Amino acid sequence: MTGASRGIGAATALELAKLGSAVALLDVDEADAAKTANRVAAESGVATRAYRADVTDRATLRATIDRVAADFGGVDHLVNNAGVQFVNPLETFPDDKWDFVTGIDLTGVFNATKAAWPHLKARGRGRIVNLASVQGLIATEYKPAYVSAKHGVIGLTRATALEGAPLGITANAVCPGAVLTDLVKGQAPDLIRSYGPGVSEDEALKRAFLGNMPTQRFIEPIEVAQLIAYLCSDAARSITGAAIAIDGGWTAH
Ligand SMILES: NC(=O)c1ccc[n+]([C@@H]2O[C@H](COP(=O)([O-])OP(=O)(O)OC[C@H]3O[C@@H](n4cnc5c(N)ncnc54)[C@H](O)[C@@H]3O)[C@@H](O)[C@H]2O)c1
Repeated sequence: MTGASRGIGAATALELAKLGSAVALLDVDEADAAKTANRVAAESGVATRAYRADVTDRATLRATIDRVAADFGGVDHLVNNAGVQFVNPLETFPDDKWDFVTGIDLTGVFNATKAAWPHLKARGRGRIVNLASVQGLIATEYKPAYVSAKHGVIGLTRATALEGAPLGITANAVCPGAVLTDLVKGQAPDLIRSYGPGVSEDEALKRAFLGNMPTQRFIEPIEVAQLIAYLCSDAARSITGAAIAIDGGWTAH
């Protein structure tokens, strides 16, 4: 699992471990990944291991995934979760931020999928779950790189599903609405600036995100984790190429 040290990734690592999967936690932040790996092992009683891995660094990522396969005796599931956000109007959107966001959020998914493919193929069964977003199904202004990358992830998921089907590999995208993690909290300073002084972080986040979700509550990381775990299970063997919204009704209107 990539981007496993916190947020949705950490919740998913714990959920998969509780169901009995040994979990490899890959993250750019190795120290945090190690802390999370220890916590997951303590809470689940299952073997975990943290690896430093930047999903944009192809050669190192491939070597790391090969090492995971050697350490664990194979790879059954790949959860492409690493992701970043940058919010800015298109006209002044910095070129380097476009490369940064699309490099991690879209090309990173391709890099990890390509590196894990021979290992999944060797098992004759595989599960790939890609973290897209509600922003892969619709758009929100000032997020051109993120929206493009997440739409791309859904296309890549479908392409992966077609090539995976004869090999026993499924590929699906999950599309969460707003989950209160660092990725969402990081948008608070800009939101406060745009709403004006006197607006608290809590209020700004609620105003920006909850209006889009008829359920009027932030989604918990565990809810997304449980959906991912289901997609990794044998019960989900006929679900492939799907983009599944878990968005509190965001895309229902
Ligand atoms: N939080 C939400 O509301 C939300 C909604 C829809 C989709 N998502 C998606 O879910 C995924 C997880 O998001 P989150 O909210 O838990 O974010 P988060 O910021 O809490 O966690 C992201 C993780 O990715 C890691 N990461 C960043 N760059 C990396 C790189 N180059 N290589 C490896 N790891 C890297 C970070 O260290 C971190 O552990 C992302 O793909 C995000 O786009 C989040």
